[in-house]
Amino acid sequence: MNFQLSEEHEMIRKMVRDFARNEVAPTAAERDEEERFDREIFDKMAELGLTGIPWPEEYGGIGSDYLAYCIAVEELSRVCASTGVTLSAHTSLAGWPIYTFGTEEQKQKYLRPMAQGEKIGAYGLTEPGSGSDAGGMRTTARLEGDHYVLNGSKIFITNGGIADIYVVFAITDASQKHKGQTAFIVESDFPGFSVGKKEKKLGIRSSPTTEIIFEDCKVPVENVLGQVGEGFKVAMMTLDGGRNGIAAQAVGIAQGALDASIDYAKERVQFGKPIAAQQGIGFKLADMATSIEASRLLTYQAAWLESKGLPYGKESAMSKLFAGDTAMKVTTEAVQIFGGYGYTKDYPVERYMRDAKITQIYEGTQEIQRLVISRMVTK
Ligand code: CAA
Repeated sequence: MNFQLSEEHEMIRKMVRDFARNEVAPTAAERDEEERFDREIFDKMAELGLTGIPWPEEYGGIGSDYLAYCIAVEELSRVCASTGVTLSAHTSLAGWPIYTFGTEEQKQKYLRPMAQGEKIGAYGLTEPGSGSDAGGMRTTARLEGDHYVLNGSKIFITNGGIADIYVVFAITDASQKHKGQTAFIVESDFPGFSVGKKEKKLGIRSSPTTEIIFEDCKVPVENVLGQVGEGFKVAMMTLDGGRNGIAAQAVGIAQGALDASIDYAKERVQFGKPIAAQQGIGFKLADMATSIEASRLLTYQAAWLESKGLPYGKESAMSKLFAGDTAMKVTTEAVQIFGGYGYTKDYPVERYMRDAKITQIYEGTQEIQRLVISRMVTK
């Protein structure tokens, strides 16, 4: 057993950390305030190869692994959770299913430009009436000659409106529940596709979240992803890995909040000494650091398992559950340590606290993670 990161992983961490500090952090608060996605940041990530970390070079990637990808999401989220999730949804939710289930042609046509950052990817599963019960979707896909006709809508789509390529799920056989769903690759300029309402959110405000609408949207049969009727499995397997990307985001958010808290606690003097040297705050910092380290280990373990081709669904649900709860707890403590200042926008910890909340909700609520884990440990 070896807990030391490889030279390649350390190099990627350093590169992303420098990039995050120099290019992402300076505008993070402003983009949050303005709810503004910055395409230039995404383009710079592409130049560094971050938009295709785990994909082989033949598909435009840099041929690294899921651990490197998690490290990148963590380092970005340490300064800006919105930028972290943009990369996470692009890679885990859109790139992964195309890499895993796509034909050679689909990989060249869609994965390659995504890996190179020329195109952005997104994933559409959730609907107004089906969130946790993903099997209960309503969107339909009807076969008509050489194309499917999609009707319905999806909500809460990360990268909605900025994405060019959407991996979406629809019912192709209403007589079956899970086995009647199919995955499709939909381009944003397909006729009948449109972007609906953009959500105004508590956190991750510079990551756009929108509705997407299909009105007799024509999707060529060659854009079926995987087998017809296999869509639910594609959706679930995609989320298995996606959840670990969210765990990495949560680790980054928590670490960012801890970094800020340590700096502040060392400087802030009350009762004649820095508050870091007072046990009430020192113990908080100790607990925060410990739970972050445990979250990081769970996250890296799941990423390592996936990179080795070993089962990782349970570990990924565990990492998301633990790291998401840790991020919420740590960021709340960070605001407490900053006191009144923490409650203002003069310091970043209120943003970290707002951003942390979503990690307990998306890619399966914490309650769904517990359901997944309990089913796996009892089967
Ligand atoms: N891998 C492969 N197959 C799987 C699977 C997995 N992880 N999970 C389930 N399946 C298969 C089952 O084996 C079963 O197959 P058979 O019919 O052949 O036996 C079939 O799928 C149905 O499985 P279940 O009976 O377990 O299905 P369920 O209806 O009870 O649902 C669930 C299971 C885990 C609750 C699932 O609905 C779920 O994960 N819900 C949460 C959805 C979610 O995470 N949404 C987030 C949306 S994405 C997001 O947040 C967006 C973003 O942009 C960031």
